[in-house]
Amino acid sequence: MRTDVRSKLLQAFTNAGGEFISGQEIAEHIGCSRTAVWKHIENLRNEGYVLEAVRKKGYRIVSAPEKVTANEIMLGLKTHRLGQKIHYQETVDSTQKIAHRLSNEGAPEGTIVIAEEQSLGKGRLTRAWYSPKYTGVWMSLILRPNIPFQQAPQLTLLAAVSVVQAIEEVTSLLPGIKWPNDILINGRKVTGILTELQAEADRIHSVITGIGINVNQQEQDFPEELNQKASSLFIESGQRISRAELIQQTLVKMETLYDLYLEKGFGPIKLLWESYAVSLGKQIKASTLTETLYGTALGITDEGVLLLEDGKGHVHSIYSADIEIPQ
Ligand code: BTN
Repeated sequence: MRTDVRSKLLQAFTNAGGEFISGQEIAEHIGCSRTAVWKHIENLRNEGYVLEAVRKKGYRIVSAPEKVTANEIMLGLKTHRLGQKIHYQETVDSTQKIAHRLSNEGAPEGTIVIAEEQSLGKGRLTRAWYSPKYTGVWMSLILRPNIPFQQAPQLTLLAAVSVVQAIEEVTSLLPGIKWPNDILINGRKVTGILTELQAEADRIHSVITGIGINVNQQEQDFPEELNQKASSLFIESGQRISRAELIQQTLVKMETLYDLYLEKGFGPIKLLWESYAVSLGKQIKASTLTETLYGTALGITDEGVLLLEDGKGHVHSIYSADIEIPQ
């Protein structure tokens, strides 16, 4: 919905102060036809607004969507470090970009950047990440582990396990992980994770872990090119999910696993990751920047690198690729 139409429509409801306002009045206020009003109302509903429609009376706003402001997240957050500093903005280009800046300015470990929407959400392999308003979790987390930078991919796998456990806590869904960190439900992606490093020589300044979770989108909310591949927790469960609760659970799971990782190393995290992996032991197609490989996904190394055995029995180490699991 165009932003001027959207804000005029919301303004009309605010002026009505919870009372009914007729379709005709709304049409005049925003300067469109009555049929178009219905479409705009549907768009607001998709964003999480609850709007009542009564014949001959018109429309009334019942409630606005839940936001994921610092207050919403802090209230009842059971962590000691992660999420204890929250940088919230309604609209950003990318939470990753802000997290990089905050990290350079010395933000403490555990700082998170949260937005309701991203205009330039970043995905892996220089792709864009679709991040519409009020429907998903768009969050970047600053970690400052004292580890060699070759081990940083382990944190991506750790983040994927944390999000799977958080989704299991908040819904009755059973997600799986496709290497390295795509979270799938019924073969469609509901979460992507992007890990970026700030490092110098062999020393890590910070690891910026960007987590994008499709939460309350409906089928029609995805652009056509994503329809077959992407899904949301709402589509898969049939229930609207509290984004604030999902964020809190993600931070709780992540803090527990991060502490375990700092104490015991990658071993226990690797076991957990493998228990959720959907690609291991299967025939896969791996598209790297330079080649396309077909073979069996054997497992991951202690650095989080994927091992693929091709038809000739050669084992390839895959550091970065797009993985497909042909059905
Ligand atoms: C992927 O391509 O699978 C990774 C997607 C990562 C998206 C998240 S949303 C929050 C953070 N900010 C961004 O711009 N990207 C990440």
